[in-house]
Amino acid sequence: MAKSSNSDTPTHVAIIMDGNGRWAQMRGRPRLVGHHAGAKRVKEIVRACPDLGVKYLTIFAFSTENWTRTQTEVAGLMKLFKRYIRRETQSLHDERVRVRFIGDRVRLEPALVDLMDNLELLTAENTGVHLTIALNYGGRDEVARATRRLAHDVALGKLDPREVSDETMPKYLDTYFLPDPDLVIRTSGEARISNFLLWQSAYAEYEFIDTLWPDFSETEFQKVLSRFGQRERRFGAVPV
Ligand code: IPE
Ligand code: IPE
Ligand code: MG
Repeated sequence: MAKSSNSDTPTHVAIIMDGNGRWAQMRGRPRLVGHHAGAKRVKEIVRACPDLGVKYLTIFAFSTENWTRTQTEVAGLMKLFKRYIRRETQSLHDERVRVRFIGDRVRLEPALVDLMDNLELLTAENTGVHLTIALNYGGRDEVARATRRLAHDVALGKLDPREVSDETMPKYLDTYFLPDPDLVIRTSGEARISNFLLWQSAYAEYEFIDTLWPDFSETEFQKVLSRFGQRERRFGAVPV
């Protein structure tokens, strides 16, 4: 399992990008307008990472529970994801960003999955910021899918059940290629994790901030990161 140090800068920042709907509603606009404004923010925050020393950025774009929203909103979001990936693929690659997706792709439309695969493949050798996008992602769903794969390996005789430990599980999770998040930020004032990175965030620091995601700026990002530097992470030990 990847260990995080007590450094001033979090290596891996995960963000629950919340508040797009309220941002639009406050302006008397449809919720999708907020989602479009939110997508613009992603660009700015990804670009800020290299200078701020953040090597891994993971963003929550769509949860397994978000399918329960209206058909209009869900369809609009899927269209937005396709458009965003299509438009940003080249510039992400030019900026050496390595992009990967987590979540269950089975329920996503093939055209979207193709764009996701293409972006992952194109940026696979990039050595810049590691951007992970959680799309149709739910922490419980991820653990259930991981357990299914693990059980399959046991059934095939590839894995001895007596050897299953807390170091085995992460290898089966969608995030097998990521270190655990050091810092999880949620915008929009809600103080809950809404099924995000349940296993991985066991020792993450949390920041719940009031700003709605479309208003989250690089300056505020920087402030949140500097507060992280003042925290003492103990990981269950007594500091000597
Ligand atoms: C977060 O913003 C984006 C998604 C969940 C897709 P919301 O759409 O949840 O915005 P609020 O919370 O309703 O304001
Ligand atoms: C979490 O936000 C999911 C994403 C940001 C993609 P939600 O708005 O869906 O979460 P709840 O419903 O407030 O818990
Ligand atoms: Mg919300």
